[in-house]
Amino acid sequence: MKVSVRVPATTANIGPGFDCLGMALPIYNTITIEETVLPGTGVNINVIADNSSIDELALEHIPLDENSLVYKAVEVLYNSIGQTPSELQITIKSGIPVARGLGSSASVIVGALIAANELLGRPADEPALLSIACEIEGHPDNVTPAFVGGLVISSQEDDGSVVYRKLNWPEEWAITVCVPDFELSTDIARSVLPKEVPMKDAVFNAQRMGMFIHAVSTSDSELMRIALKDRLHQPYRMKLIQGLDKILENLKHVESVLGCVLSGAGSSILVISEKNNLENIISIVKDTWADQNIKCEIKTLNVEPNGAAVVSED
Ligand code: HSE
Repeated sequence: MKVSVRVPATTANIGPGFDCLGMALPIYNTITIEETVLPGTGVNINVIADNSSIDELALEHIPLDENSLVYKAVEVLYNSIGQTPSELQITIKSGIPVARGLGSSASVIVGALIAANELLGRPADEPALLSIACEIEGHPDNVTPAFVGGLVISSQEDDGSVVYRKLNWPEEWAITVCVPDFELSTDIARSVLPKEVPMKDAVFNAQRMGMFIHAVSTSDSELMRIALKDRLHQPYRMKLIQGLDKILENLKHVESVLGCVLSGAGSSILVISEKNNLENIISIVKDTWADQNIKCEIKTLNVEPNGAAVVSED
């Protein structure tokens, strides 16, 4: 038997929602798990590029052994029913740029869990799979939208359960995803964060998070401009994202821009704006990075409303 699952990319944090806000984007990884017939072949994992925008070098960094996230996800599910994974061929067809803050890890965890669950005759329901996925990833902000699609606010509770709600994304706002040619691993990006933050910064983010939810539900651009700020992670990560300070400075004067934020832990950035003036926004980001010898790929995308799904793949 063979099962393939297509999973969308995600962007997390989106300003004030550190570790709790995320959105699915129409870029995909497809994870295929096939039972092989030869006994004793163990679990074999391979990665192939799904399009030319994925540099092969980055794919080489994806671990393919028993320490890989995809293996861990499959193992947890098999172990939950008293089995050990064996005689499996796992293929990751990778369309999501790696180590760029676009949820490539979350997508392989989610895809592997759903595919393994299908192979095993669905021992786990959706809440259980979501809970396992968040446990492996360590936070729910990428995993939840990868699973269910859309713009999502989520938390993982002390009992492991994941609570989430989908939010509206106003039609009139554009999401421009700017992907630089340098990687940033989430581990490094998390290592620069403090263990504790000043109370005034926690209050600042709590205010913005409330404003964000009101702004998206009422399409309030003025409020969104205030909401798209963060003091919990972005200030600490600025030094890891070459050129971000200049991009922020250069976009300040563009009236249609509502905010410019890190995508997840970086290295990609998101520009959220009204839909006019997009070419100007794109050329400002491109030129600012080009001045620092950084190449990038920039795309204006819609929210992907659908989450991970089983697909037929030959
Ligand atoms: N919320 C996470 C972070 C997203 O900012 O570290 C990256 O996986």
